[in-house]
Amino acid sequence: MNPFEYSNPVGADALIDRDTETKTLVDRAIDGHNSRLVAPRRYGKTSLLGRVGNELAKEGFAYVYVNFFGVLTAADIAQRIELAYSQQLTGRLAAWFAAVRRGLTPTLGAHAGVGVAGVSAQVTVDPAAQQSVLERLALPRRLHDQRGTRALVVFDEFQDVLAASDQMDAVIRSEIEQHGDAASYIFAGSKPGMMRELFTSKRRAFYAQAGAVDLGTLDPQDLAEYLYARFERGNRTLTGAIDGLLDVGAGHPQRTMQLAHFLWEQTPAAEVADEEAFARALDTVMNEITDELRAVWTGVTDSQRRVMVAVAENLAGLHTAASQARVGGSRSGAPRKAAQALVDSGDLVADTRTRTGYRLVDPLLALWVRARGQTS
Ligand SMILES: Nc1ncnc2c1ncn2[C@@H]1O[C@H](COP(=O)(O)OP(=O)(O)O)[C@@H](O)[C@H]1O
Ligand SMILES: [Mg+2]
Repeated sequence: MNPFEYSNPVGADALIDRDTETKTLVDRAIDGHNSRLVAPRRYGKTSLLGRVGNELAKEGFAYVYVNFFGVLTAADIAQRIELAYSQQLTGRLAAWFAAVRRGLTPTLGAHAGVGVAGVSAQVTVDPAAQQSVLERLALPRRLHDQRGTRALVVFDEFQDVLAASDQMDAVIRSEIEQHGDAASYIFAGSKPGMMRELFTSKRRAFYAQAGAVDLGTLDPQDLAEYLYARFERGNRTLTGAIDGLLDVGAGHPQRTMQLAHFLWEQTPAAEVADEEAFARALDTVMNEITDELRAVWTGVTDSQRRVMVAVAENLAGLHTAASQARVGGSRSGAPRKAAQALVDSGDLVADTRTRTGYRLVDPLLALWVRARGQTS
């Protein structure tokens, strides 16, 4: 069995480090505070939240994990919340919810409320759909009143609720601000720009409502130990390949695990994972993700592509590199704006160690951008 999972959230036993973040999130929830967890896709947010949920369950909390990825309407939001309770509560709490559920206003069809043109979010929320959202948001309050149980509610990919309506954060806040000790919330998201807007803009309902917890890259020492131990446990020796793995993976949690997964595939039992095995593993991974990388590349603007190249190639400066390419004419702020857009989408992060002041979040995208043109 290959011990390296890279496409689904991992359990606490497979989670490297993140001890400080776990403790912070657990302590804050116990103290009745809300938190927000913002990190790029694949940095281990969902995995970490699962671990936090387990630890709080030991403290008697009900743990409810709602993923808002891709919701388009208020009805979608209501259904996601309801589904979370029906699938995740166990024992007496499951019985409690089965009874409570009968009294909820039914949610409309999942696509009710999608704009007529089907493209833009509504400014206001349909009152019936709003009512069904509010009833489901109120569940922790009822659980606490009726059973004395506190809840940790996680709203993952929280920024996606704005797709249903620009007012959805206000709708949500109007209910959960009444929860006091009944429930603590963690709002997680992978779009730094929208999460910043939601929680740090004075015009938004959640302004200053949740303390920030960030997730960075993983420490090379933690990674090296974990990777070595997992290979060893599977009767394989990780030697020559470790440098490549740490260099190319660059501390990115999921990309490092993906590379390790295919390195394992290249290493028969009782053998050594060496540089050649790593080179083959890297080829396999790059083949596997070509379509995905190409989609990222084609999904951004020309200016953003120029910024990606400047950053991936670590050119002298964003402005010089980009203006040589005549982004938006001379002396324009276009490169900065393009870089900011990529930061907001979670594709780029500030990094003082580089000449551009940024680095691409995905080290394999950086590799691919540097090699572009050389492959088809
Ligand atoms: N701390 C970690 N230790 C080990 N692997 C991790 C860690 N964080 C993330 N991963 C890897 O990243 C993948 C995606 O994790 P996930 O929790 O789904 O990330 P996110 O929710 O941020 O997109 C996992 O399958 C795992 O391979
Ligand atoms: Mg996730």
